[in-house]
Parts: sequence; C-alpha cells; structure tokens
Amino acid sequence: MDIQQLYNLVAEDREAVDALIRQRLRSDVVLINQVSEYIINSGGKRLRPVLVLLSAGAFGYQGAHHHELAAVVEFIHTATLLHDDVVDESDMRRGKETANNVWGNAPSVLVGDFLYSRAFQMMVDVQNMRVMAILSEATNIIAEGEVMQLLNVHNADLDEEGYLEVIRYKTAKLFESAAQLGAVLCHRSAAEEEAMAHYGMHLGTAFQLVDDVLDYSASSEELGKNIGDDLAEGKPTLPLIYAINHGSDEQAALVREAVEQGGIGRIEEVRQAIESVGAIAYTARTARGEADRAIAALSIIEESPYKDALIALADYSVQRSF
Ligand code: IPE
Ligand code: IPE
Ligand code: MG
Ligand code: MG
Repeated sequence: MDIQQLYNLVAEDREAVDALIRQRLRSDVVLINQVSEYIINSGGKRLRPVLVLLSAGAFGYQGAHHHELAAVVEFIHTATLLHDDVVDESDMRRGKETANNVWGNAPSVLVGDFLYSRAFQMMVDVQNMRVMAILSEATNIIAEGEVMQLLNVHNADLDEEGYLEVIRYKTAKLFESAAQLGAVLCHRSAAEEEAMAHYGMHLGTAFQLVDDVLDYSASSEELGKNIGDDLAEGKPTLPLIYAINHGSDEQAALVREAVEQGGIGRIEEVRQAIESVGAIAYTARTARGEADRAIAALSIIEESPYKDALIALADYSVQRSF
C-alpha cells in the first residue's frame, strides 16, 4: 500500500474531520479566525488525525467520536506549531510565511492557546475519562519536550540518549496518543492498547529523526519550511551529535562550534562534514530502525486494510521528502 492508497482508505472520514475542524475553529474574535484559518488552511499532511482514523478502523470502531478526536489531535498539533515557530523564530511553515511573521509573536502565542483550549472543550464532549487522561498527559509532555529542547540549545555535549528523550517528548508522544485512541474508543485489551501506543511512539520518533535529516538535505520548496533552521538556532540534532562524536578532530570542532554559536554562516561546511562522516546515513538508519519497531509492535493486531495502512505509514515516515 502506498501513501495515496492509505489516504484513500480514510477519505470520507478525512472529509468529516476537515468539516469538523472548520466548524470548531470559529470564534467571535476576528483575529482568532484569521490566524487559525490561515494556518489550518495552509494544509499540512494531517498525519496525526489520519493515525486516529486508522487506529479506530483497525479495531472496527462504529461511532463518531473518532472524528472529534482526530480534529482534537490536529488542533493540539497546530497549537504546538504556532508556539514552536515563535520559539524557533521560523519564517516558513506549510509552504507559506509563518503566522508569527505575518501577525507577530503575540497573536501566534495567543491563538495557539485558543486552539489548545478549544481542543480541550472538544475532548470533554467525548465524555471519556481515559481519553481525557491520555490527551492531557500528551499536551503536558509535549510542553516538557519543547522546554527540554530549549535548555539544550547550544549544548554540544548533548548525547544521543538525551536527544532521543527530547524528540519522544516533543513529537512522538502525540503520535503515541493518536495511535492509542482508536483502541481506547473500542475498549480493546490493555495489550492491544499498549501495542498501538508503542507503534505510535516509534513512528513519531522515526518521523522526527527524518525531520532532523531533512533540515540538512531537503529542498525548502518541497518541505514547505526553511531548511537550516536547526543549525541557525544551534539545535543539537542527531546528525550533528553523531558528527561531533565520530568525526575527525577538525570536523568535530567545526560542528561543535556551529552548535555553540548558532547561525548558518558555515552551513555548507557543516553539511559536508556530517555527510562525509556518515551522520546523515546513521540518522536515517536510526529512523528505519524505529519504523521497524513500530511495525513489529503491530504483530498482535488483527490483519486488515487498516493495519496494512499503519505499516505503510511507518514506511512513509522514513521515505518522505516533505
Ligand atoms: C511538523 O510536523 C512538526 C514535527 C513534529 C516535525 P508535520 O510535518 O506533521 O507538519 P504538518 O502538519 O504536515 O505541517
Ligand atoms: C516540532 O519541532 C514541534 C513540536 C513537536 C512541538 P521542530 O521545531 O523540530 O519542528 P519544525 O521543523 O519546526 O516543524
Ligand atoms: Mg520548529
Ligand atoms: Mg522547535
């Protein structure tokens, strides 16, 4: 199954989710509508809502709460992006100027808060305490991950383990929750719920590892984000960590300095160093390993087109170029 077939499998559900997203974005405050519609209508891959839909499908869910929860997960994701682009001082998101560039930091932060709290209102409508527990924990962990990462900016001594912890918190946790929710809605066994949570956690980790590779290797047009943002910020991602630990003394010193100082003045040299040390290949291999673990976690889930799609999603997360 390829990514298009995967999206087709949940095409009707995706339309329902998009309608719900548009409906629930509404506010009487004009600026909220402008900013939130701007970022939501810019597109985005909608991977996390698709994950909720596939998970619900894999367990034969028959109700309508999966649409609400898919929308909730996308709202939470979008809120984190609004905040993240302020923190990262990013200029481009989803192929367009970031909201912080168009309206400034304050509206981005405040509309992010609106989306977070709207997500919680919608979550309450589902009236399921487990769902509330999972999603409130996820938002809390994401916030911790972003703060942990902030503390590690310009830290050239961050090791692989520390890096992996950050990306599990800031990114993989929401994938984990999204994957788990289908099993929760269907009251499946603890083992199945856990399998889905593990699947999502490894998928999300693979996804962020690839995101960190793409920041050095993608084209901005295709990615819809500026590349080189991580280096500009002095963010020690795995390609850099690997180069510091496995490069020649000269290469290690170059990359170390790039992390400590930030800025993209020497990005070409850094890119060459991480490429020749094999840091890009290593990070890609690590992502593939995570995707394989995600797929392995699905072994106890009954065969179905939805399960095939979950497997395809794991493959896509490492093959993607945007
Ligand atoms: C961006 O996520 C943030 C990361 C965790 C890397 P996506 O790449 O899923 O963003 P959209 O929703 O498609 O824009
Ligand atoms: C993703 O982090 C944002 C969150 C998971 C909250 P990044 O800063 O690495 O992602 P991009 O590159 O801006 O999408
Ligand atoms: Mg960012
Ligand atoms: Mg960030």
